[in-house]
Amino acid sequence: MCGIFGVVAREERPLGGLLLGAARRLAYRGYDSIGCATLDAAGAIDLRKDPGKIDEVDARHHFEEMRGVRGIAQLRWATFGAPSHVNAQPHLDTDGDLVGAHNGNIVNHIALRDAFLAEGMTVRGTNDGESCVHAVERYVHRGQDMIESIRSAAGDLEGDYAYVIARRDERRLYAVKQGSGLVVGLGDGENYVSSDLPSILPLTQRIVRVRDGEMVVLDADTVELRRLDDGEIVEREPELFTLGMDAAEKSGYPHFMLKEIHEQAKAGGDLLHLLGASPHVDPFLDALRAGRRVYFVGCGTSYHACLIGAALFNRLAGLPAVPVLAPQFRETLAHALTPDDAVVLVSQSGETKDVLNALNASRPSGATILGVLNVLGSTLMHASDHYLPLACGYEISVPATKTFVNQVLLFHVLAERMSGRATTDWSRVPGLIEETLGCLEGPSRALAELLDGHEEMYYLGYGLTLGIALEGALKLKEISYAHCEGLLSSEFKHGPLSAVREDYPVVFVVAPEDASMLVNHVNEVACRGGRTIVVGAPDALLRRTADLCLEIPEATHEISALLAVLPLQLVSYAMSIRRGNDPDFPRNLSKTLTVD
Ligand code: G6P
Repeated sequence: MCGIFGVVAREERPLGGLLLGAARRLAYRGYDSIGCATLDAAGAIDLRKDPGKIDEVDARHHFEEMRGVRGIAQLRWATFGAPSHVNAQPHLDTDGDLVGAHNGNIVNHIALRDAFLAEGMTVRGTNDGESCVHAVERYVHRGQDMIESIRSAAGDLEGDYAYVIARRDERRLYAVKQGSGLVVGLGDGENYVSSDLPSILPLTQRIVRVRDGEMVVLDADTVELRRLDDGEIVEREPELFTLGMDAAEKSGYPHFMLKEIHEQAKAGGDLLHLLGASPHVDPFLDALRAGRRVYFVGCGTSYHACLIGAALFNRLAGLPAVPVLAPQFRETLAHALTPDDAVVLVSQSGETKDVLNALNASRPSGATILGVLNVLGSTLMHASDHYLPLACGYEISVPATKTFVNQVLLFHVLAERMSGRATTDWSRVPGLIEETLGCLEGPSRALAELLDGHEEMYYLGYGLTLGIALEGALKLKEISYAHCEGLLSSEFKHGPLSAVREDYPVVFVVAPEDASMLVNHVNEVACRGGRTIVVGAPDALLRRTADLCLEIPEATHEISALLAVLPLQLVSYAMSIRRGNDPDFPRNLSKTLTVD
């Protein structure tokens, strides 16, 4: 997605540093282009923007020099219009009276663009965010004030979006939330608006959440919320957020990803502690028990956790939960839902559009909606009948790591609770995570070196480790850019085996109870000259059969399966670094995808 940020100050002052800082904190949402606009006390607009990452563009445009009483910053993740100067945001209206930037999708922007051109407006690019500015311009030209113009524009703009806009001769900023995230921060003599909390929290902890269908009018001392449909003012008390931003610093690690990998023992411990005491667990479990049919729904990494969650519930609690990719859920299952069903939506961000589409498709049926999410205050949290938090703190790096481990742990705890048999010694889990990371950091780097010579490979898993293999393969694809296919180990012989030739790498992720069967799969590859690598618990037969074994500490079948993801995360990180990539912000990707 994209990220937007805006500030209104009482006095004209340097704003470039503040905009740049906020932009850096929003960078996980998009980094195809960055732009900043400031308006000085006389209303003159200074607009600097270009495609590229923040530091590259800053080196050309020197954002730090920018001054003003109002400022807007935007980070773009390109959907409509290639990353280019004209498509970079913020955008101007025809005569430079308005400047604005958006996040989300204006799905009818092509038709709007034609209409704007026919009406004589100057449309400079092909990015849908420009439509927000021209849609407001259209009504300003017809003599409406900004509040009326923004309300009228809402009738023209279709899609899920948020935007911030300023007019030259006013000391205000305006923002709209219609499907994408938007929060307001109340400062001292200045106020802020942004796509998310992490960009605002270092500036102020007094936050007002904006809801869909609302607009915000900000000046330096006041913030007014209004409904878009009838223009009525909405009263909402600010909330105080005391969560510090230390968590969003790298703390000496070269990348957020490595920091977050090493935070997994603590994050896991925090979650287990929370689930042990939380009053929200029982209602969540009751809803699962009551479900005639139960679906686990997510995208990307969260979907892989759903796969493992379903296997855990089947194995431990005898509950037949069905894991489904969110976009497929809407298309293939949502229409058959009944009020007796339960839909568990799993999303780190709680904002992924595909997941929210599944939610919206489920709502009319009356099925119970259960959310599993990391970002408190997210759309998913508010829309769920019951939700459980992942308790990971901020996850900044685009590739998810600690949220995945906690998603799986959460499913595991719930499944075991439902089974009525307490078999896992949860107090050992944080230590096992730490031990695994400690003893496999070196071997993972060595495996990355081995795999680095290849542009394609397979990661195979079975049962509980299928989701781990898929997750390991996704991590490798995301940040090394090599092609790595994750697959059910037993399926490999039904076709993909033909890819194997001398030295072709195949990684097997093996949980203890599956070892004797997986030896066969390893052999099938080994005897055809493939390079076989096993990630799993120590096993004498596997050690003799495979070319290389990354052995994880002894643990139960379920915990051992989860631990296997840790070396795979480290392998991806190491391979990404070897290839000179930025693992935190891989090309073309975004942490929170709020588009279809
Ligand atoms: C994006 C991210 C993935 C993530 C997926 C689901 O595609 O790049 O890393 O797994 O969204 O995100 P969610 O916030 O719903 O868990």
